[in-house]
Amino acid sequence: MKYRRMPIEIESPEQFGYGNIRCNLTESSVSDMPLSELDLDLSALVLAYTDHLGKPELRELLAADGKGISPNDVTVTQSAAAALFIVATSLLEKSDHLVVIHPNYATNLETPRAIGCDVAFLSLSFEDGFRFDIDKLAALVKPETKLISLTTPHNPTGTTLTKNDLRAAADLAEAHGCYLLVDETYREMNFAGPTPLAASLSPRCISVASMSKSYGLPGIRIGWIITQNKELQETFLAAKEQIFICNSIIDEEIAYQALSRKAEILPPILERNRRGFEMVKQWIEGQEIFEWVQPSGGVVCFPRIKPERGVDVEAFYRILNDKYKTFVGPGHWFGMDRHFMRVGYGWPTASELEEGLQNLSLAAEEARAGRRVE
Ligand SMILES: Cc1ncc(COP(=O)(O)O)c(C=O)c1O
Repeated sequence: MKYRRMPIEIESPEQFGYGNIRCNLTESSVSDMPLSELDLDLSALVLAYTDHLGKPELRELLAADGKGISPNDVTVTQSAAAALFIVATSLLEKSDHLVVIHPNYATNLETPRAIGCDVAFLSLSFEDGFRFDIDKLAALVKPETKLISLTTPHNPTGTTLTKNDLRAAADLAEAHGCYLLVDETYREMNFAGPTPLAASLSPRCISVASMSKSYGLPGIRIGWIITQNKELQETFLAAKEQIFICNSIIDEEIAYQALSRKAEILPPILERNRRGFEMVKQWIEGQEIFEWVQPSGGVVCFPRIKPERGVDVEAFYRILNDKYKTFVGPGHWFGMDRHFMRVGYGWPTASELEEGLQNLSLAAEEARAGRRVE
């Protein structure tokens, strides 16, 4: 493995300092939940190692979400990032071929790169509405393809795969004898309601998700891998045991308590997210420098500065960051042109989002050719 740090992490607000940011539109989750909101008494917990697969009651709740999924099909991990790392390192070697959707959350690209395997991109294009095309995917799959890696709802575009898209991708994996990984970290945030767990479609499918994004609990680092494939389950558990044996018992308990109250906790989060989405939609419709593909899920969108508008993109980011103390996720975090930027609308307060969106317009206007750059 050849590790290197990714720009999305080096330039993240945690590294830059939250105190230096006025309007933070970089985040890809909803607002972080204070522990007090869960009103938990954890004092009776014995701080022991836990079940290596994960707290059984937590696995039961997760399994209940997928038809034909049993609690033993679930491996709880320290976040979706760790789950994705386990899947990639368990399945891929240097000689293997992988097809991965692009752009993407950086880890989905970086871990296969660090392994050194042959990576083919299933490129989503703005002109095509970032649309998933099963024929394009099929054309990229080769006899030596080991893994297809998709994400829905997608980060950074906020587009989604339909149930039929997932079924077609699962059929393709079955026909080629490869595996289908679906990063479902934003599954609960599909505007049309969650698609079936990919792992429920075929033993060739692997679902990955976590408590970070929809519940605003990234600080507990709880995610999971679900697959019906017994051989893969054994390999994933072996990887988990070698990396961290088991999860933090405190984190698992918090995740379990939060998930047990899903019916109460999730609707207000989704409603707040919907209001954030409406604000971005109104902003996009009320100006002429930025354009977008309207998202259909998740908590982010991926607009771009219209190339023909004559905006000096580097000056734009400089003005946005230095003058307006406003931050977005620039395109290069996702291996894309810097005209693109990820805008997260679920994390900031309504007033921060409103001000941040206005600042995007102001910075772009000021960075147009011929304007003086401050
Ligand atoms: C698509 C996707 N997958 C996985 C992750 C990792 O989430 P976590 O490790 O916090 O569970 C992220 C975080 O941004 C993401 O956007």
